[in-house]
This record gives sequence, C-alpha cells and structure tokens, in this order.
Amino acid sequence: MKVAIIGGGPAGLYSAILLKKQRPEAEITVYERNRDDDTFGFGVVFSDATLDNFEKYDPQSYRRITEEFAYWDDIAVHFRGTVRRVGGNGFCGCSRRKLLLILQERARELGVTLMFETEIADEARFADADLIVIADGINSRFREKHIAHFQPEVDLRSNIFAWMGSTRPLDAFTFIFQETEWGPFIAHAYQYEAGRSTWIFETDPETFERAGLAGLDERQSADRMAGIFGWFLQGHPILTNRSMWRNFPMIRNQRWVKDNMVLLGDAKASAHFSIGSGTKLAMEDAIALADAVYRSPTVAAALQAYEQGRREEVEKTQHAADVSLVWFEHVDRFWEFDPVQFAFGVMTRAKAITYDNLTLRAPDFVCEVDKAFAKQVRASGFDVDVEKPLAPMFQPFRLREMTLENRAVVSPMCMYSAKDGMPQDFHLVHYGSRALGGAGLIFTEMVCVGHDARITPGCAGLWNDEQQAAWRRIVDFVHANSAAKICLQLGHAGRKGATRLMWDGMDRPLEEGGWDLISASPIPYFPDSRMPREMDRATMDAVRSEFVAAAERGQACGFDMLELHCAHGYLLASFISPLTNTRTDAYGGSLENRLRYPLEVFEALRGVWPSHKPMSVRISATDWAEGGITGDDAVAVARAFAEAGVDLVDVSTGQTVRDSRPVYGRMFQTPFSDQVRNEARVATMCVGNITTADQVNTILAAGRADLVALGRPHLIDPGFTLKAAAWYGAEGVFCPVQYLPGRDQIFRNSVRDRQDFEELKIKAKPKTRAELKAEAAKPLAAE
Ligand SMILES: Cc1cc2nc3c(=O)[nH]c(=O)nc-3n(C[C@H](O)[C@H](O)[C@H](O)COP(=O)(O)OP(=O)(O)OC[C@H]3O[C@@H](n4cnc5c(N)ncnc54)[C@H](O)[C@@H]3O)c2cc1C
Ligand SMILES: Cc1cc2nc3c(=O)[nH]c(=O)nc-3n(C[C@H](O)[C@H](O)[C@H](O)COP(=O)(O)O)c2cc1C
Repeated sequence: MKVAIIGGGPAGLYSAILLKKQRPEAEITVYERNRDDDTFGFGVVFSDATLDNFEKYDPQSYRRITEEFAYWDDIAVHFRGTVRRVGGNGFCGCSRRKLLLILQERARELGVTLMFETEIADEARFADADLIVIADGINSRFREKHIAHFQPEVDLRSNIFAWMGSTRPLDAFTFIFQETEWGPFIAHAYQYEAGRSTWIFETDPETFERAGLAGLDERQSADRMAGIFGWFLQGHPILTNRSMWRNFPMIRNQRWVKDNMVLLGDAKASAHFSIGSGTKLAMEDAIALADAVYRSPTVAAALQAYEQGRREEVEKTQHAADVSLVWFEHVDRFWEFDPVQFAFGVMTRAKAITYDNLTLRAPDFVCEVDKAFAKQVRASGFDVDVEKPLAPMFQPFRLREMTLENRAVVSPMCMYSAKDGMPQDFHLVHYGSRALGGAGLIFTEMVCVGHDARITPGCAGLWNDEQQAAWRRIVDFVHANSAAKICLQLGHAGRKGATRLMWDGMDRPLEEGGWDLISASPIPYFPDSRMPREMDRATMDAVRSEFVAAAERGQACGFDMLELHCAHGYLLASFISPLTNTRTDAYGGSLENRLRYPLEVFEALRGVWPSHKPMSVRISATDWAEGGITGDDAVAVARAFAEAGVDLVDVSTGQTVRDSRPVYGRMFQTPFSDQVRNEARVATMCVGNITTADQVNTILAAGRADLVALGRPHLIDPGFTLKAAAWYGAEGVFCPVQYLPGRDQIFRNSVRDRQDFEELKIKAKPKTRAELKAEAAKPLAAE
C-alpha cells in the first residue's frame, strides 16, 4: 500500500503514524512545505477526554506528549475588575512546535518518510498512490482545486483575532474581557509550558477600526495589546510569530472524499479557537481514518466508512464551536450584566456545561449565581430570600400586575380536539392537570378568532357564547385549584388554514370540508394547498374586529394574560416575513411596512385588554430560510411591539415556509431569545427542545430569557414543575391540598435521590490530570 500525505500538521503526521502502525508494510510519505521546526503559533490545548483517546491509539506518542504538557483545572473569568474561578475542567496545553516535533520523531521511528520543504502543487505526481490524504490546513489548496466536488462552505466570521504569546505564567485557562476607549477586547490565554502562554486577542470589527489596528504592524499590534492588558501581564512581554489579524473561517465541506483522496483536519472542517478543538478534531480525524482503513477491505470502502462514521461527531463539535463564537461576537450584549451572571454565561455558552453540572464541580460559584439572581428579583420588588435563594426556575416574576410564582411555562399546544371551535372536557382535564402540576403560567393552544381562522377542524375558538362559557369553566378551574396563571393565545391560521388534524397529516390541505383562506399575499403553503386570497383593507378591518371581539370574550372569561400569535407562518406572521409577503402597498416592502398590520391588530387588542393585565406576542425570530427573517430582524420586530406596549416577547422560530432548514438541537431557539432580550432590552420567553429543569435554570441564570416554556415535555408530564421543585428543594411551590402526601413523599425522597445521584456522578468522573498530578506531588503520609 502506498500513501501520500499532503501537509505535516497534526492531521497529516498523526494519520501517518496510525496508518503505519496498522500497515507496517505500507509506504507512507508526508510532504510538508515548511522546514521541520518551522511552525507558526504558540500552544495547543486538549481536554482530558481527548488525551484518553490518544493514549488508546498510540501510547508512545501519548507519553511523550503528556511529559511535555502543562495541566490546569480552573477556568478564570476576568470582567470589570472581578475574577471568578471555576474548577473541574481538566485541560492540558502543549507547545504546537513540540507537539509536531514529537509526532515527527514518532513517525520516523515507525518508518514513515518525511519530506520537508516540499510544496505539492498537483496530486498527479501521486498517480501510483492507493490513498492521498489532504491535510494541508485551513487554506487548503487541494480543497479549492476540487471545489466543485468537495463543495466547501467558508463562513468568514465578523470578529477579528490574532494569535500571540507571552511569558506570563498562568494557572488557569484565562478569559479577560477588557473595556477600552475603543470598545471591548477579549483575551483567551493559557500556559502551555513553563514560562510560555498562548494569547489569542479578539475584538469586533468596529472596535478594531476605532483602535486603528488595521494600520499597525505585527510588533505595534502586540505593543497595543500589551498596553491594554498591561495590568494583568505584570511586565511580561507579548510575543509574536506571524501574528496577523484575521477573521476566523468556519469551514464545512459537502463531501470529504474524491476517488482515493480524503480531506482531514482544518482542510475539511474548522472549529473556533474559543472551544480549543482544532487540533483535537485534526488528530481525531486521523484516528477515524486509521480505524476505517483497519476495518474495511478496500481503500474506497474505508473512505466511505470514514466519512459516514465521522461526520456527525465533527458537525456536533462544529455546532458547539458556532454557538460559542457567536457568544463572543456579541459579548457587548452582556456587558451590563452582573459579573457573576456574566461569568456563568461564559461557562455555559456552548451548552455542554450546565447549571447542575457546575453545581457539582463548583458549588460555591453556583451559590453566588443563585444569590445574584435572587438579588435582581428582590430589586424588582419581591421579598425573596437572598442568603438562601431558590434556584432561578423558582423565582417569581411579574408582568404588569400579574405575578407568576415560578418561571416554568406550559407552551401553547394545539390539541386538535375541539368541535366547531368548542373546547371539550378533554380541554378542561388537559389544562386543569397542567395547572395542578405546578407551572407558573399556562398558555392555551392557539385559540382561533373565527370559524375560518382555524388551522384544522379540531382547533379551538372564541367567537361565540358557548365557546366563551367553555373557556370560562377552564379558567375558573385553574384559578380555583392552582396558583398558575393562564394566558389566552389568539390567532388566525391565514394560508395555513383548512388543513388536516396533526395525526392525519400536519399542514396538509383538507380533502373535503375546507374553507376560504386569506393571507398577506396569494402564495399557497404547499403547491397543492388551497390558494389564499390577498387581504384587502375591508378584510383587514373585519379580521381585526374578530381579534378584538375574541379578546373581549377572553377578558370576560377571566384570562390573566393575552398573547397575539404572530409566528409560525400564520396570518399575522405572513405579513412579517418577506417570504410570504410580496405586497406592493403600505403593508409590504420594508419591515416597517410589513409590521404595520400586525401592530395595528396588537394596538387594537391593547386598547380593549385591561391595562393592568399583560400582553405578549409570539414571533418566529428566524425563518431558517434564505431571504427570510433573521435574528437581527427579530430584534427590530421586538422593539416595534415593545413600543406598542408588549410586555413579553415569546421567541419561537420557523414554520414560515416549507423549504426552511432549521438547525435543531438542545435549546436550539434559545440564542434568539438571548438576542432579542439583550439587544431589544425586552422580557422574553424562550422555548424549543428544552427538556430538563437543569436547562431551564441554565437559561435563566445566564440571562438568556425571563421565562422558559416547555411544550412536548408537558404533554407527557403535567407535574414537571412540582418534580423539579422537589429536586431543587423549592419548598414554596404550590401543591393542591389533595396531593400533599404525594408532594411530601417526593420531597423527602428527592433529598436522598439527589445525594445518591451526585455521589454516583462524582465517583464516575475520572480524576483530571491536574488532580492526579497534584496527588502525585503530595508527600506520602507518615505511617
Ligand atoms: C488563532 C488560532 C488558535 C488556535 N488555538 C488552538 C488551540 O488552542 N487548540 C487547538 O487544538 N487548536 C487550535 N487552533 C487550531 C489548530 O491550529 C488547527 O486546527 C490544527 O493545526 C489543524 O491541523 P491540520 O493538520 O489540519 O492543519 P495545519 O496544522 O494547518 O497543518 C497543515 C500543514 O500543511 C502544510 N501545507 C499546506 N499546503 C501545503 C502544500 N501544498 N504542500 C505541502 N505542505 C502544505 C502547511 O505548511 C501546514 O504545516 C488554533 C488555530 C488558530 C488559527
Ligand atoms: C402538537 C403541537 C401543537 C402546537 N400548538 C401550538 C399552538 O397552538 N400555538 C403555538 O404558538 N405553538 C404551538 N406549538 C409549538 C409549541 O408551543 C412549542 O413552541 C414547540 O413544541 C417547541 O417546544 P417543545 O420543544 O418544548 O415542544 C405546537 C407544537 C406541537 C408539537
């Protein structure tokens, strides 16, 4: 077997080592354009988990690498003159130059040929190779050469960064958030060997411009950074090594394999430095490739297995890196935060670290986070305990004169079980049991303002006296038997109306018994959906009146709050999105125009809804589609509604057009709530794949939302909140007297369950290398 490897970085060298170990007879050559010790950069960082992998696949290089490593356990966050340290993180740093020298040495020992100062321009010279590994880094020439085949996507991010170094010793992975006269600068710094640390400086393009960095050379830039971070550097210099300012390219490729050529490392996929995973990804690619070669009968089969087996893992890491880099790009959103809350946001930004998880490893820090949260609640007028605070989920919240006992919300969920718009006994039991389950606020499903406003024949309505009486019965039950408040969500289906019940084909048109549809523009949802009629002014007036009449009925029912549904492609949403609104009158074109009718409806409702009761609006903060609404538009939409008197923005996403491409994942819509809340400065509720109380607390404590709604989790577990209250020991949560014995039992058991769980978690967690090193350094106890 003959293997040609283009690029002598971590991906190229490590794949050479692992392939040679498996196939000692193979002729493997690495071609590197630079000299053997001619490498850019300072240090690289690996997590303990990555090192475990290295140990398994090549213990020899692992041992040499770890002999050279600097270990640390803590992350330190410096912000506005404060520092917070969080332990239990388990990271190691190493010089990139040493790492490459170790890998080169190991490759040579195994019989790999290393050709330095050999730039490869054309793969034709490897016509006799069985396998060509393209590991030529982030600016890969070969990826670009075969661009039509690999179909790379290069997303050049907005922040500008430079990779520098220092002699300043550091005992923690250190983030410094520094205010300057030009704007915020961030340093990501860690020590990788005695007397040497990596310093990556990052800022937004406007601050970069204002600081005049574009006009400075490498040395002058370093001096400027030394000036900004001088207070921390304690006289240590900032070092450079080809430390140019640049924008980070997020790279993805549609295909990783072409004939016998395969992309590895940064050439294939990059991951932002803020999660320190570039070298890890490169070396784990090498592991995956060697594994696939070992298990497959032919090179072609191996390359297919490599791509199939590895893609998901790489995309997961890239997704985490994306979320993390976006946090750093928008750090100004959090600049006014309390420093403890800010530090919690830094720690939890990429979703892997959560409230519970930090409670285990840094209980004092989480205690501080809880206290800071409780202080904010106290400042908003609640007499809550700040010294022994409840977890954020169980802190009260107020909108106008409506007080919520806690911040868990039952999301609006259509039950498709009404008859001619009439809520049934099912609805009474459904809403009633969720109210008894402890959530602070219950939303109704989308309640339609007229017969033709319905999505399906099973949708509930509020346009006649019988329906009003049925809703009144539900509201009265909730008020009489629970501490929950209940919000009426009003909506009109628009072009998504006259469709089948969810279980008969979501959004699919009714085969018979349909009704006329209206929308902002005459565009059907599916090509075979009924064509909606473009609303004229008279229809707009009529529909607005239907909304107003339904709101008045809602007030007569005794609802505590009113939500206007402007999301998910329904009638009012169809005005907001440019994908569904192609009007040329005053209601189409600019966002201001597209918002005109939804705002008109909102204002009409605000006019009749009692001023002491709050109102919210549900929006789709992105259409997940080219040319549609984006997060920035959502901020503008939220501001416009806030000016019109909205108290809370309920931030959902999508469902506007059929061909959207949502990026699902845990808490996947939370970044939009974060953006709306912290840019438009309006209270938000987030929702979407939030399944645990741990996630609820993480979101609230980090200031990404004020309320958290759960839809599907509440369908199968009405008692979600009461169970969470037992877990966190939140004694005060309302429980119906009839259920008190059950409540007492679960509270009692939870104390023990939680202790057992934490002990198990602590036992299961392997010691970090920093802990092991500290233990080894301890003198033996005297007998
Ligand atoms: C600012 C910054 C900070 C980072 N911090 C970290 C960190 O803390 N931890 C971490 O793990 N990663 C970090 N990374 C990422 C890390 O450096 C890369 O992800 C990693 O080096 C990728 O390995 P690779 O082998 O794919 O590519 P590279 O290391 O870039 O290697 C590619 C090699 O191919 C050679 N080459 C290119 N073209 C040719 C050609 N035509 N012929 C011959 N040779 C060629 C190049 O000279 C180079 O040596 C950081 C990156 C940046 C930019
Ligand atoms: C069956 C079903 C019905 C829904 N009905 C509504 C609705 O009537 N109004 C609304 O705004 N959202 C509705 N949604 C969206 C949910 O409120 C929620 O935003 C979504 O399910 C994501 O949250 P989850 O991951 O917690 O379920 C519905 C979702 C589902 C699955």
